[in-house]
Amino acid sequence: MIKFTSAQPIAVNVNNVDVALSQIRNDLMSGWLTLPDLDRTAELESIKSAASRIQSDSKFLVCIGIGGSYLGHRALIEALAPHFPTKVLFAGNSLSPRSLQRIFDKIGDADFSVNIISKSGTTLEPALAFRFFKEKLQKKYGREGAAQRIYATADANRGALHGESVQEGYTRFVIPDNIGGRYSALTAVGLLPLAVAGVNIDDLLAGAREEKASYSAESNFAHVAPIQYASARADLLSQHYDVEVLASFYPELQLFSEWWKQLFGESEGKNNQGIFPASVTYTTDLHSLGQYLQEGRRNIFETFLEIEQPSTYDLAVPSLPGADVDGLQYLENRKLSEINKIAEQATVVAHRVGEIPVFELTIPDLSARSLGALIYFFEYACALSAKLSGVNPFDQPGVELYKSNMLRLLGSPKAS
Ligand code: PA5
Repeated sequence: MIKFTSAQPIAVNVNNVDVALSQIRNDLMSGWLTLPDLDRTAELESIKSAASRIQSDSKFLVCIGIGGSYLGHRALIEALAPHFPTKVLFAGNSLSPRSLQRIFDKIGDADFSVNIISKSGTTLEPALAFRFFKEKLQKKYGREGAAQRIYATADANRGALHGESVQEGYTRFVIPDNIGGRYSALTAVGLLPLAVAGVNIDDLLAGAREEKASYSAESNFAHVAPIQYASARADLLSQHYDVEVLASFYPELQLFSEWWKQLFGESEGKNNQGIFPASVTYTTDLHSLGQYLQEGRRNIFETFLEIEQPSTYDLAVPSLPGADVDGLQYLENRKLSEINKIAEQATVVAHRVGEIPVFELTIPDLSARSLGALIYFFEYACALSAKLSGVNPFDQPGVELYKSNMLRLLGSPKAS
């Protein structure tokens, strides 16, 4: 279970939260809310069987996708660092030729498969990257052989990718109609790449399920952690704290912060409103943005993402014979993880002294179960935060303008 603590008192506006939660429950795009409780036996079996096929015939799986069709599974693979012979690579999340070439070089002559992930099927970055990899697959394995190595995760019935998948006979996985991109990490979008990478997807889903159950088990909803977090954020925003920094002392969580930024940024930033989501990884950033946080403008609040038992793996500071030349003898034999925790405590205190409102979110450990719980926690808190500020958590109208400009400049027949 995720623990939320705040030094400031938390005022939950029970009526507003009640209205917002009922709006979320009735929203057609709230499929993620009950997803952990669905019986997904058949879907999970076909994901696992595709994953073992890919593991047996491919050295690499290239996951092509952007935004919500990319960040969740990338973050989880990075955080959990599973050791599996089949490596997952990521393409279609930029238009950089150098990045694409690096992936081609990495694959070289090795066997590979492709997971194209796009709900709409029309997003230019992944669609273009897919074309490059299709060409490579077809050259290497022939058209039919290529089709057997393409796994398409798309809308069930609509969109260009759906049509192509049916026509070419790709193995298909569905992004439910009622779940949008950035809320889809626990759908097939994330689960297939995660299973291929060797992440225990049953544990991941169990974590989300347990987290959800803990909310219903709480008799007073003002004590439910994501409700407290969303309420505390809204309260700070009303006091002009309009930047939230997600801080962690674990570089393994750096990409998790990217997923979090997309979730909150795209859900809340509309109608000239919203808290700007930023992130730091300490202690690295204590030697960079740390200065700004400590003494810069006071419009920032900070949410520390903490891990109770960070690692089963640890290193002790070596003890060296002779004089204390580096002045570090006092740390001999102490665990690096313990020193990291102390740096964290020191930073929390320093930032409180610097008058930064600080929240702490704690997960038990860095496991699939805990991260499944954390994903559900943030999805819930994010949808609620957006509804509390009166915006739609599930659309992203602002993304369209760059797209239509780009298509017009490129001379697309679909340009508006
Ligand atoms: O959260 C969202 O809806 C977006 O970030 C999308 O995931 C992103 O734009 C990719 O869209 P698609 O999956 O349709 O290619």
